[in-house]
Amino acid sequence: MEFAIKNFKVGKLEGEKLVDGETMPLVLQPNSNNDVESLLVVLEKNKEWFKQMIIDKSAVLLRGFNVRNAEDFNDIVETIGWENVRYVGPAPRTQIHKRIFTANEGPLSDTIIYHHEMAVMKEYPKNVTFFCELPPSEGGQTPIVPSFKVAERMMEEFPEAVKEMEEKGLKYKFIAPGQNTQSYIGGGWPLFLGTSDPVEAVKRAKVESDIDMEWLSNGSAEMIFANRPITKVFEGRKGRKMWFNIVTLMYGKKFTSVTMMDGTEIPENFVKRCEEILEEESIEFKWEKGDVLFLDNFAMLHGRRPSLPPRKVLVTLGK
Ligand SMILES: [Fe+2]
Repeated sequence: MEFAIKNFKVGKLEGEKLVDGETMPLVLQPNSNNDVESLLVVLEKNKEWFKQMIIDKSAVLLRGFNVRNAEDFNDIVETIGWENVRYVGPAPRTQIHKRIFTANEGPLSDTIIYHHEMAVMKEYPKNVTFFCELPPSEGGQTPIVPSFKVAERMMEEFPEAVKEMEEKGLKYKFIAPGQNTQSYIGGGWPLFLGTSDPVEAVKRAKVESDIDMEWLSNGSAEMIFANRPITKVFEGRKGRKMWFNIVTLMYGKKFTSVTMMDGTEIPENFVKRCEEILEEESIEFKWEKGDVLFLDNFAMLHGRRPSLPPRKVLVTLGK
């Protein structure tokens, strides 16, 4: 059955999933005019409704509006009217236009592990919005995962371990090089913190992001993220407990690690099962040129599948 909300037609998407009675992502297509200018008029009239809908639905895909470039994308986001959030972190990103950045310039052959944007920082954006300017011919999807499902299943399978981590908190360690390296989290500490002055870097890390820094002999810095949560409940998200951590991203890697706050190791099978559950609960679709994907960053994790070049996906963060 076809139905419409406001000036949008609700579409179907190959790969969408029904999660606890909600279709994820919700696909909105043009009801009549399919140009960006008409879309901006509709958004201008319904901005509060639109913002609330992203919270209610967790993920919304606009498709078929002929969004052409970073300028169009910026107009859409500015019309909705979120406050801009500056990215802080190790992902290599370039500003394209105003609040629009490249999504991640790490090698396209890398898989980007599921995460909530800036989940271990002091402040994290409420929403993450992607725009596909150039879809890759194969792969390169941006899979999304309803975070509450992961929390639910992990609590079911590992009730004691989750409880222990909730009580103790987590400690992540990340070795940030002095220079950028070729990886999707390869930004060195100067890029991460926006300064190459070591004294200023230590101050910024602590004050702006609650990160402790320890210098290593080769110009690298160990960044320590203490007392981070494993789950979190956000206002207005149906009381759902979210899997608001980056354990699978940081666990046992060459430059990253995670333990409980008191040094207790996280069991390997806990991490392995979590990886499997994330995959099982993931939702993915093929990007089309002009797609705009809005995510409630408090409710949805996202990642990236490897692809061959070219692929151009842009991003903006808001609150
Ligand atoms: Fe991300």
